[in-house]
Amino acid sequence: MRVSAIMTMNPKILMEAAISGKKKSNGKPKGKQAKVRDYEAHVLVCKGGDCKKRGSKDVKKALKDELRSVGMNRDVRLDSVECLGLCKHGPNAIVYPGGTWYLGLDEGEAREVARSHIKNGEPVEHLAAEFRPKKKAN
Ligand code: FES
Repeated sequence: MRVSAIMTMNPKILMEAAISGKKKSNGKPKGKQAKVRDYEAHVLVCKGGDCKKRGSKDVKKALKDELRSVGMNRDVRLDSVECLGLCKHGPNAIVYPGGTWYLGLDEGEAREVARSHIKNGEPVEHLAAEFRPKKKAN
């Protein structure tokens, strides 16, 4: 389909066309057929430039190794993400559930987070970042 033809089409028709293009033979969109694992925890480790320079790769490896050693490597999703926006404090990570931010982790601290927070469900208070109070809407 030519771009000029697409630009003049009703957006609803375009959306239906896009959805029908993603359908499988049973009529369900592909995304609805996929199943996801029910993880105990999800850890996002920053791999942005500043965190990488300060060792985020080693921090992620330490988390992974520790999770493996406590038998949780299959229960925890460990992902690298781009910049979390607190670059000068890195290497940074966020642990869910709870959304606890850990800033400036080193490998030993990452292992402590894996054991205490992820394995035992106790966030590591002395390593966790404090939350700023939310700004009130006017
Ligand atoms: S590079 Fe990690 S928070 Fe920006």
